[in-house]
Amino acid sequence: MSRKITKAVFPVAGLGTRSLPATKAVAKEMLPIVDKPLIQYAVEEAIAAGVETMIFVTGRNKNSIPDHFDKSYELEKELEKSGKTELLKMLRGLLPPHVSCAFIRQTEALGLGHAVHCAKPLVGDEPFAVILPDDMIEDGGRGCLQQMVEVFDDQQCSILGVERVDPKETHKYGIVEHNEISSRVGRLQSIVEKPRPEVAPSNIAVVGRYILTPAIFKKIETTGRGAGGEIQLTDAIAALMQDEQVLSYEFEGRRYDCGSKFGFLLANVEYGLLHPEIGSEFSAYLKQRCENL
Ligand code: G1P
Repeated sequence: MSRKITKAVFPVAGLGTRSLPATKAVAKEMLPIVDKPLIQYAVEEAIAAGVETMIFVTGRNKNSIPDHFDKSYELEKELEKSGKTELLKMLRGLLPPHVSCAFIRQTEALGLGHAVHCAKPLVGDEPFAVILPDDMIEDGGRGCLQQMVEVFDDQQCSILGVERVDPKETHKYGIVEHNEISSRVGRLQSIVEKPRPEVAPSNIAVVGRYILTPAIFKKIETTGRGAGGEIQLTDAIAALMQDEQVLSYEFEGRRYDCGSKFGFLLANVEYGLLHPEIGSEFSAYLKQRCENL
């Protein structure tokens, strides 16, 4: 029987040091791109891919994330009283009724592999998705995870979302080597976490989208500390690859690294231009502004 992806894990315990001081008191996943927090975009991408259970691996100072997805009785009452029905509808639609959220704490910051392993009791013995909300992917309709789920439905194995990056930037990513099996899909030959450009096997980088079989949990358990002294998901995937097929998938779309100030700003500009309410006004402003640079 073929298996379906119904659960997604969001590792959101990170401190967001690259975005300080904005993230001193605010969870980095709650920073807005135009008018929605990053985590909302990530959850919407998961919903579009058919995910029904959102599993957040949280940490200290992240209470705003469960708050965001909770029903807000006071706010809804106020909006109802003042007749703001459109706002009320938008608020109620943030999470469709068939979708549920679960929260589990990562009590120590031991790395991405460790964070994913924290979700094991909630994931169980099923294949699942992992989304890193920092990596926002604009796709013009077919979400990145949805594209990957389509490949999973056919192949029933672990799949990593990848993209070609500037060869000088390999030290920021998990880097893979693969054998192409079609224009976007490759069979993984090797994977290494944050190699320096001189030793990187390619410039094909893993972005924050994964579909993993539950066998990954055993591999994480036997993965020692790797790059940066952390338990790396990349190292567990390297071990998984020895037992099972792992695929890479070059997604259609544009990624913004919202954990960096520049990427965050780019995402705000691009999503501002696409926004139904302010897009045309913002575009006119930008055109005028650029003439005066
Ligand atoms: C993590 C992963 C890395 C991946 C990257 C994508 O790194 O460890 O393999 O390429 O996410 O954003 P981080 O950015 O958390 O250091």
